[in-house]
Amino acid sequence: MDHFIYRNGILHAEDVAITEIAAAVGTPFYVYSQATLTRHFRVFDEALNGMNHLICYAMKANSNIAILKILGDLGAGMDVVSGGEYLRAKAAGISGDKIVFSGVGKTREEMALAIKNGIRQFNVESEAELKVLNEVALSLGAIAPITLRVNPDVDAKTHAKIATGKSENKFGIPISKAQEVYSIAASMEAIDVVGIDVHIGSQLTDLEPFRLAYKKVAELTKVLRQDGHNIRRLDLGGGLGIPYESSNQSPPLPEDYAKVIHETVGDLDCEIEIEPGRLLTGNAGLMVSSVIYNKSGEGRDFMIVDAAMNDLIRPALYEAYHEIIPVIESTENSETQDYDIVGPVCETGDTFANKRALTPVADGEMVAFRSAGAYGAVMASEYNTRPLIPEILVHGDQFSIIRDRPSIEAIIKRDIIPDWL
Ligand code: LLP
Repeated sequence: MDHFIYRNGILHAEDVAITEIAAAVGTPFYVYSQATLTRHFRVFDEALNGMNHLICYAMKANSNIAILKILGDLGAGMDVVSGGEYLRAKAAGISGDKIVFSGVGKTREEMALAIKNGIRQFNVESEAELKVLNEVALSLGAIAPITLRVNPDVDAKTHAKIATGKSENKFGIPISKAQEVYSIAASMEAIDVVGIDVHIGSQLTDLEPFRLAYKKVAELTKVLRQDGHNIRRLDLGGGLGIPYESSNQSPPLPEDYAKVIHETVGDLDCEIEIEPGRLLTGNAGLMVSSVIYNKSGEGRDFMIVDAAMNDLIRPALYEAYHEIIPVIESTENSETQDYDIVGPVCETGDTFANKRALTPVADGEMVAFRSAGAYGAVMASEYNTRPLIPEILVHGDQFSIIRDRPSIEAIIKRDIIPDWL
């Protein structure tokens, strides 16, 4: 359940009419519901009740510091993948001992930043990284807490571009080599082995891949303990999917996912970390856009909107489906028609949906793209010199701009014409 509903025929975010926000900031924009976000966190957190756990929000999904602050205040930690994300988490008031650092290519600078300012653990993905981390920690006179991310060679059954747990993917250390790399880690002076990390992919709509991966982690925990490692923390990654198509998708519930965790690793006396991203923010956000033109093509009707692939790239990149609904509720007797919903960017890939049944939306009126709170704003670019679109947070009957639309002048000013021209 989310808080985007029609009231008196107008789509609202909580108690605020989308039309009111549009009048204040113009379109396109992202809008997030604090109540929805809070609810998602609580449902997930409660599902894990009874297990010693920390939810480390994968902030790559939506890293606006207002969003981080809401989650941080609810008790979340953060999963970061860059020095930039680390600093954002800090700016949102998250303490270092609740930040885990993931990613295959951490640099020395990023490692040092995190060690100096506090870190819960590094999720290390290769022997080479381990060696560098040891050197960095030694040079700072510190000890770096680590898990090794293992690649369990499990098929996550998700889109190829967001599957990470197969042996052909670039992520983690093959689970077959884990024992060897753990013993190398244990021999390093400035490394403290605290646990195991695994993440098999994103938008998983089936629990079995999780079960398979977590079983392998449980077996590895026992083996590593026999080898003398003090395995006390398991980072189980993120990846639980969300419904993008409410009519025909029902991904597993958090409580069923929690059951899998309980059944596979619940008796190991480990602290559990989970890194959900999409699950928390995905359905807490919409992207709102105005129709610029309706255009009839050869056997097709195009709806050209003022948002484009640079604002929400998921359809172009992953053939992702986002529900598109009118901001002014269609009347009961208005009939749907098939539209190709496209943006103004000069590429055929700038298509949000093909042959999508929608009731007519007149030029100048608005549509909303649902499930746009995760991997929407964060993946936006300024392609075609289109400014990043603003982000709005709604809380009850209040709304606030949490990231403003930059001016075109500001964008152009970032470029520099060298002296010789
Ligand atoms: N942990 C790690 C190590 C990850 O790489 C990711 C996502 C997550 C957690 C969070 O996964 P989630 O719970 O959000 O599924 N841009 C793509 C998704 C990329 C996911 C990358 N890693 C999309 O728009 O679908």
